[in-house]
Amino acid sequence: MCGIVGGIAQRNVVPILLEGLRRLEYRGYDSAGLAVINNQQIYRKRELGKVKGLELLLEADPISGVIGIAHTRWATHGKPSTANAHPHISRNKIAVVHNGIIENHEHLREVQQKNGYEFTSETDTEVIVHEINHAMESTDGLLNAVKKALKKLEGAYALGIMSVDEPDTLIACRKGSPLVIGVGFGEYFIASDVAALLPVTQRFIFLEEGDIAKISINELLIYDAQDQLVKRPIKQSQLTADAVDKGEYRHYMLKEIYEQPFAISQTLEGRFVNNRLQENAFGHNAAEVFDNIKAIQILACGTSYHAGLVARYWFEKLAHIPCNIEVASEFRYRNPVLAPDTLIVTISQSGETADTLAALLEAKKLGARYALAICNVPESSLVRESDLVLMTRAGPEIGVASTKAFTTQLTALMLLVIAVGRRFHLTEIAEQKITSELFSLPGKIEQVLQLDDEIRVLAEQFAEKQHALFLGRGTHYPIAMEGALKLKEISYIHAEAYPAGELKHGPLALIDADMPVVTVAPNNSLLEKLKSNIQEVSARGGQLIVFMDETLATVNDENIQIVRVPQVDNETSPIVYTVPLQLLAYHVAVLKGTDVDQPRNLAKSVTVE
Ligand code: F6R
Repeated sequence: MCGIVGGIAQRNVVPILLEGLRRLEYRGYDSAGLAVINNQQIYRKRELGKVKGLELLLEADPISGVIGIAHTRWATHGKPSTANAHPHISRNKIAVVHNGIIENHEHLREVQQKNGYEFTSETDTEVIVHEINHAMESTDGLLNAVKKALKKLEGAYALGIMSVDEPDTLIACRKGSPLVIGVGFGEYFIASDVAALLPVTQRFIFLEEGDIAKISINELLIYDAQDQLVKRPIKQSQLTADAVDKGEYRHYMLKEIYEQPFAISQTLEGRFVNNRLQENAFGHNAAEVFDNIKAIQILACGTSYHAGLVARYWFEKLAHIPCNIEVASEFRYRNPVLAPDTLIVTISQSGETADTLAALLEAKKLGARYALAICNVPESSLVRESDLVLMTRAGPEIGVASTKAFTTQLTALMLLVIAVGRRFHLTEIAEQKITSELFSLPGKIEQVLQLDDEIRVLAEQFAEKQHALFLGRGTHYPIAMEGALKLKEISYIHAEAYPAGELKHGPLALIDADMPVVTVAPNNSLLEKLKSNIQEVSARGGQLIVFMDETLATVNDENIQIVRVPQVDNETSPIVYTVPLQLLAYHVAVLKGTDVDQPRNLAKSVTVE
């Protein structure tokens, strides 16, 4: 949700900011802008559309400066337009880039208009820059003006701020939206994500909630939420600049689909000794926490929620521990009742999803004593708010449609099922069997990836369709949901998932030759039930594409096309069956010519409500 980058250096920062924006584009891509201070003046360029547009604008009419801020936008308040693009400027004096939402912007706007401030955009952000300008009239210096102005703001923000009155100062603030400082040699940068700054530094300071940093070439001062001067550690990132390159792949999404065998092996790496899961993988006091819990509550959004849905089946079947799951945005406003000694499990690729974070805080308010995060970003807010953590180690995921994050989340969740299950119903033998299934996953997924060409041909049948249904049963129902989500978000085909047994209760009315029905059919205890559901569809002229275990007998039915999936072990088969559905969505989107990595209206890392 919007990407911020900024810098103060002894060289022109414009190329660095532009490269940073390119790397942050996954966070929003409806407009982009950049401003620098040069000769006591703010120079700004903004363009509707992607960063490429801004780049062309700057090529045609370059600007330069040793201090600058830049932004790529995902619209919340005000449509995508050049006027609404950041940076926003107050009276040619102060410029601001913002990620987040200012909730009391309407009230502030009214007051500021009465004070004579002119508004040039429909954004909530513009009130921030005018508020700082106003505060400067009654305070000494930019830092104090920012501190005073922030007290008036309600909502969430990460901010980059500069003023012509102090052209050697960059201010960075964080409350509710992520922000890091990149520490260079004689230069500093700020960004929403480390990935933006990897070409210039691998050393980062992660700002904490409520921090305000005053950055100049010679000095970095950080004030915490209590306005105390604090020292924050500099951390060395293990990522390199090319970790976020597309390599030989046409799209990030395809690259990330193909990275899944390696990503899953990373999730498992070092977490077993002599084939036994080590509980300290979740944190040093994990065993003590697991000893005390009696139930699980999972909170997540989108694809991560689908991972949680699969895990609920696993927790209840394999561990026999009660497990609830809820979409985070519902949980946070529902007044839920938590059973005593419930372990809150949040799942998030980014660790910055506003709803998931808020749901976790709500659960804590409701008395939850233990929180565990399954996450892909080590320094994220969710990780910092949790007592226990299991990192998925998928590596940076740039494609907006989540792929390797999902399968590594499932792998990590199965590790949690083992650790918790030991205290409940999971036998030593069952644990060993699941462990060996987990270690065979990378090889199985390699085999599934070989179906790529077959699935690409299959995808041609979808290119002209408006709708699709996805069916599954048991743990594969959430996989059908994930398949439908992938298809709709990148190909814009309306897709819905149903538990196959539910068809006859309504959706069967939709079936005709124009509605492809994608079915996930592993060889498990529900297969016979599923076969009956498949027949119900075929008997009504429905066209089925069935991803089916290779060991099963052929079906002679002209309405049914079979894609044979390599035989997989029982419990972990949802992880394997995810991959063909990702490939299907990918190829349909490529055929339709959509923007696969940056689908319309979406952005990664949803840091607003
Ligand atoms: C879909 C997708 C989203 C995210 C959701 C939660 O492909 O990526 O549905 O899963 O926005 O994001 P995280 O996992 O970062 O909390």
